[in-house]
Amino acid sequence: MTGQVRGVQLARLLGQWHALPGRRRSPDYAALAGTVRGLLADGRLPLGVRLPAERELAEALRISRTTVTAAYRQLRETGHLASRRGAGSWTMLPGNHRVASTGLWTPLDDREMLDLGVAALAAPPQLLTAARAATEDLPRYLGGAGYHPTGIIELREAVADAYAARGLPTSADQIMVTSGTQHALDLVLRLALAPGGSVLVESPTYPNALAALAGRRARITTHGLAADGWEPDLLLGSLRQTRPKLAYLIPEFQNPTGHLMPASLRERVVAAAHAVGTDLVIDESFVDLPLDGTELPPPVGVYDRHSRVISIGGMSKPYWGGLRIGWVRASAPQVQRLAAVRVGVDMASPVLDQLVAVHLLADADAIVAERRVQLAVQRDALLGALAQRLPDWRVTVPRGGVTLWAELDGPVSSALARAAEEVGVRLAPGPRFGLDGTMERFLRLPFTLPAADLVEAVERIAAVRYDLDRTGRQRWREPAVIA
Ligand SMILES: Cc1ncc(COP(=O)(O)O)c(C=O)c1O
Repeated sequence: MTGQVRGVQLARLLGQWHALPGRRRSPDYAALAGTVRGLLADGRLPLGVRLPAERELAEALRISRTTVTAAYRQLRETGHLASRRGAGSWTMLPGNHRVASTGLWTPLDDREMLDLGVAALAAPPQLLTAARAATEDLPRYLGGAGYHPTGIIELREAVADAYAARGLPTSADQIMVTSGTQHALDLVLRLALAPGGSVLVESPTYPNALAALAGRRARITTHGLAADGWEPDLLLGSLRQTRPKLAYLIPEFQNPTGHLMPASLRERVVAAAHAVGTDLVIDESFVDLPLDGTELPPPVGVYDRHSRVISIGGMSKPYWGGLRIGWVRASAPQVQRLAAVRVGVDMASPVLDQLVAVHLLADADAIVAERRVQLAVQRDALLGALAQRLPDWRVTVPRGGVTLWAELDGPVSSALARAAEEVGVRLAPGPRFGLDGTMERFLRLPFTLPAADLVEAVERIAAVRYDLDRTGRQRWREPAVIA
């Protein structure tokens, strides 16, 4: 058992369970049980947690206890609940399957599946050339032990130069190489956030960042993004009112919404954060990927005069996620402290992979230019297919990054994701990007697959969206996310 979910918490997660689309004439207990299964399948309700007692849930939902008793009975029959008299009931999955229960979004190995759950491109052709060149360089490092907690100097210099080229002078001792941006975030949190510390995040935001914050048992407050991005007064007001220890923001082509934070707000956020003693963790995962010639505002770090800003970034989005190379940009003393933290985690990143990154960065202009063209073509194919097959969905055209955030024609995101899985399309439903099971009206759609796959995926999604209304039944199948 990993914990307990209280009646009010489960009620919040269950949301509009009694009015879910496709419900029609099923009894209340079946609808309740079905929604719990859905939450389990999405990973929003963890496995192995104790559900509230029947009476407590009945009170929280303002329904009769008999309904909850019947729903729990059905969940036991379908293998989603284990109960022991006097001890309570725990969530589980049928057939001993395990889903990622932390909100982790893992790619599938199922090649038949069109995977729109992961927003990352396949490797560029230049990767092999870079890998071969890296093996030629390797002998230079083989005489040493190979542990470089802040990264090999060549890569730190290359990353520092890239910051300088973006208008933010940076020295190599301000850079620490990590095993991906996620690792960078985790290390920064270990350094800058005591367990239980307060953090402000955008809503929606990147689910694995929420998972990292959960790992620190962070107390999270959110800034809800509007249809056109951040609401400056609200964001600054939240910072001033809640005075969080830390704020995690994704200013460039925010995941999942694709918004780009304007320069004026960047400056004001840094000033407000400094005034209230908040550290800013700025995730620049998508900074290399403006599309349509969009001009980037200066990096957030440009406005920082008090070492309030820690920037994180990496190779995964412009180059390849499989490389597992990321970095932190911070003050030199902070980098040293991060290195000390890191020694207790994984010591250092692989030298060979860092050398591959050095070669890719040396060819950055050409590689990234190709990626941008590829992404623009794929985005347009996705937008075209959506306009044709799902014209009621509303999308803002993202000017960069790899995702768009579609507003659906109803609160059907999780139901749609389950139905789409049946027809070979994996989706990341809206609630995965929030904290409280809301955002059922939204769906993140990455444009990282080839255009033909995206068009095919939209065809299939449109077909199941139509069926969702027609058949009026929500089906359950064993979850495909098996960790
Ligand atoms: C905003 C954001 N941060 C971090 C990551 C993780 O990146 P990495 O593969 O470098 O760990 C991603 C990947 O999707 C992301 O979208």
